[in-house]
Amino acid sequence: MDKRTVKAALLGVGTVGGGVYKLTQSLQADLVAKTGACFEIARILVKDLKKERPGIPRELLTDSWREIVEDPEIQMVIEVMGGIEPARTYIREALEAGKQVVTANKDLLAEHGQELLEAAAAHSCDLQFEAAVAGAIPIIRPLKQSLAGNHLTEVMGIVNGTTNYILSKMSDEGMDYQEALAKATELGYAEADPTADVEGYDAGRKMAIMACLAFNSRVTFSQVYTEGITQVSAADIRYAREFGYAVKLLGLARNTPEGIEVRVHPMLIPLEHPLAAVKDSFNAVFVHGDALDDAMFMGRGAGEMPTASAVLGDVIDEVRNLVHGCSGRVGCSCYKHLRVKPMEETENRFYLRILAENRPGVLAGIASVLGNNGVCIEQVVQRSKSRQAPYAELVIITDLVRESGFQDALTILRSLSTVQEIAGCLRVY
Ligand code: NAP
Ligand code: HSE
Repeated sequence: MDKRTVKAALLGVGTVGGGVYKLTQSLQADLVAKTGACFEIARILVKDLKKERPGIPRELLTDSWREIVEDPEIQMVIEVMGGIEPARTYIREALEAGKQVVTANKDLLAEHGQELLEAAAAHSCDLQFEAAVAGAIPIIRPLKQSLAGNHLTEVMGIVNGTTNYILSKMSDEGMDYQEALAKATELGYAEADPTADVEGYDAGRKMAIMACLAFNSRVTFSQVYTEGITQVSAADIRYAREFGYAVKLLGLARNTPEGIEVRVHPMLIPLEHPLAAVKDSFNAVFVHGDALDDAMFMGRGAGEMPTASAVLGDVIDEVRNLVHGCSGRVGCSCYKHLRVKPMEETENRFYLRILAENRPGVLAGIASVLGNNGVCIEQVVQRSKSRQAPYAELVIITDLVRESGFQDALTILRSLSTVQEIAGCLRVY
C-alpha cells in the first residue's frame, strides 16, 4: 500500500516524551489505519546528548533546533520539554515555518497562549494542547469544541496529580508530607521543580487555560489567585474529617455578572461530594453550562503514559488534518473581554484552627472580632489537653463571608494577645 508518511520531531524525551515515543512505537499499525498515513518520529531534541536513554534510538537524537525547524520534511513538532524559553521561541518558529504543533506545556500557554495562538492562525497551523491540562482527561477539546453550544458558567476540579497524591496519602495512610512528595516525584507526577505543584502554580496555570476556553475571554496565570498545600497539616486533615470533610486542592473558575473568578486553594469538601472520592494522581473536572447542565470528567492527571495518551490524541488529530489538508480550523476561542474579579470580592466559607489562651472570655473575644467583621460562626469546637493546659485549640467553621471581611478579621485575630497562633485556615466548599 502506498501511504504518505507524516514526520514529526519530539522536543524533549523525559517523562512525557519517553511515553510519547513508546506509544507511537506500539501504535504504528493503528496509526496508519486511524489516519490514512504512516507516522514517524524523525528527530528528538534533547539538552544532553550523552545521557543514557534506554529504548530511544541514539541516531534520532539532536541538540540542534535549527536541524529540526529548517527540515522541510518535518511537518509536526511535539513540544514536551517544558519551561518558557526556549520552548516559546521554538513553538513560534515552528508555526512560522508552517509546522503543526502539539504541546503539553501549561506554563507557556497560561502566560503566552494568545501570542502563540495568533502565530498559529497567521500561518494556518494548529497549536494543540490537550495534555497541558489534567493529564489523560480529555477536557481541552470538550471545552473548545464538544461543549461550544453552551454558555459555560463554572469549571471546577482537582487538576494537580502531585498534590492530590500527597493529600490522599496524608489523609488515608497517615504518610508524612515529605515522604508523599518524594513518592510523587519518583512516579513522574511532579514538575521539574515541585514548588509549582505544591504551591498551586501548576493548578493555577491549568485553571487559567480552562477559564479562557470556557468563558471565551483571556485569563492569564498572573490573574489567578493561588494558595498551595504546604500549610495544610495532618491536624487540619483530622479535624476536617471529624466535621465530615476531605481536604483537596481545588481549582475554581466562575463566570459571574461582576467578572470571572479564578482561583486555586486547598478546600474542605463534604465527604459525600464526588470530588472527595478522587484520590491519588487522579484528577476530575466539573463543568456547568446552560444547556448541558453538569458534566464531570475524571482520569489520571499526571504521569508518563496518561499524559502521553493525551499527546497522542492530538498527534493523531493533526495527522488526519494533514492528510485532509484542513489544519488551522479551530483557533483561539477568546473573543470576549471580560473583567477578572479580584479575590477580595469573592465570597467563601472558612475553617479556622486557633491556639488561644485557655481562660474565660477568650472565645467571646474571638467571636466578637469575627462578628464585627461580618463573619458568622456556623460551628465551633474547643479542645484542650487538660483544664490546666495554658492553650486550647478552637476549631471554627464560618458561614459564607466576603473574602475582604474575613481577611480583616484574621489580621485582628493575629494581633490579639490571647491568640497564640492561627494554626490552620482553609476555605470550605
Ligand atoms: P522532564 O522529564 O524534565 O523532561 C524534559 C525533557 O526535555 C528532557 O528530555 C530534556 O532533555 C528536554 N529539555 C529540557 N530543556 C531543553 C532544552 N532547552 N533543549 C532541549 N531539550 C530540553 O519533563 P516532563 O515531566 O516530561 O514534562 C514535560 C512537559 O510536559 C512540561 O511542560 C510539563 O509541564 C508537561 N506535563 C508533564 C506531566 C507529567 O506528569 N510529568 C503531565 C502533563 C504535562 P535532557 O533529557 O537532555 O535533559
Ligand atoms: N505536575 C503535574 C501534576 C503534571 O502533578 O498534575 C500534570 O500536569
